[in-house]
Amino acid sequence: MNDQSTDWKRPGATTLTEAAGLSTGPVSMEPYRSTEFFELERSRIFGRTWLMMGRVEEIASPGDFVVKKVEVCGASVLVTRAKDGRVQVFHNVCSHRGNLVVLDQSGSGSRFVCRYHNWTYGNDGRLIGVPDEATFFNLDKKKCGLTPIATEVWEGWIFINLSRTPEVSLAEYLGNFGEYLKGVDYVAADSPVVFTAELDCNWKVMSDAFSESYHIPAIHQKTIGSTFASRSNPFAHLLNARVFGAHRMCSMFGNSQYESLDSSKVEKLGQNAMETTNVITAVDTSLVANFLDHPAVNPTRTADWSLDINQVFPNTQIDFGQGGFFTHQYWPISVNKTRYESRFYVARPTNAVERFRVEQYIARVCEVILEDTTNVVATQIGLESRGKDFMQLQDNEIMLRHSTYMAEKWVAAETVAEAMA
Ligand code: FES
Ligand SMILES: [Fe+2]
Repeated sequence: MNDQSTDWKRPGATTLTEAAGLSTGPVSMEPYRSTEFFELERSRIFGRTWLMMGRVEEIASPGDFVVKKVEVCGASVLVTRAKDGRVQVFHNVCSHRGNLVVLDQSGSGSRFVCRYHNWTYGNDGRLIGVPDEATFFNLDKKKCGLTPIATEVWEGWIFINLSRTPEVSLAEYLGNFGEYLKGVDYVAADSPVVFTAELDCNWKVMSDAFSESYHIPAIHQKTIGSTFASRSNPFAHLLNARVFGAHRMCSMFGNSQYESLDSSKVEKLGQNAMETTNVITAVDTSLVANFLDHPAVNPTRTADWSLDINQVFPNTQIDFGQGGFFTHQYWPISVNKTRYESRFYVARPTNAVERFRVEQYIARVCEVILEDTTNVVATQIGLESRGKDFMQLQDNEIMLRHSTYMAEKWVAAETVAEAMA
């Protein structure tokens, strides 16, 4: 590795794992392969937690809508912005005979027409038109609007809860994690580059792959190995990690002395065009100054910093890097199938240099994600072989330990209050 960093050591005597109050023993593999456990996750985790549906910028103007799938709960969800600017979310299901009303993934308009028999709804969910209405029997149109889903917006993030009556508000659910992340300046929030893939693995295998840096010097050796590790921190030890109830964060080391190899001519060109030495960013720091100022962004204020992973339980990461923020989401389809969706928010380029940086950044992100996604399937096959029953986790894998602990806790809990106790 071509670095000059001084010796790096995380301050503090205890391990991150012990400081978070977690046990240090081996961790069961059953939550990753048991169909019974998955059925309980369906109802007890995804059926009653607050789930992130996207940002308000996706539906910026009145009439804008997006349709999202929540396969694990069998739901098709219609996220709308009504005339008065309110964000509302409905089950995308027709009151007539249950057809899906909106088949487009996104769009804009003042009404939704179910194509089966043309029942028509306003974008506030009201049923406003029924062809041949007189032939129905005492049809009460007021009671036949789209079914609303509990919706709350926090810091520009739209959340839903698929319980008919959520046991806790979103603010209560996020608790001190919501406070910790309050006021972040989400730059370029209207301009994401989106990656999606369906992968043959449990949703937690996918989440784990983006929750620790121990794997980076190994599996990402040729891409970001030398940016997340250095001679002084060869195993990419974390800068910090904290748990916030069911939620968690970790802060990852970044090699501030990283320099592209002379043989990597394109990367070198990109690096020379940037203020930072980090090739996993697309913008100058001046564009993200307010964002970088926030105490939850690089919370240890370490020069050798790369990323913060902020995981909102169960399946959403809102991650921070030197160039802004990005999200990963892991949507279960079955015990061993997951829809992965990530969004990298980058300011739209205004000149050729900026365009080059963005292209280089996105190309690098693609390479790294492919290294992760081609490996997760092998992990699932290994887990399902039942050749092993327990994982051996080290201190820097604290996020995984907390993830399985929380999944087990929520699955065992009869009520949300019990899960959150
Ligand atoms: S099912 Fe929608 S109009 Fe008939
Ligand atoms: Fe990775």
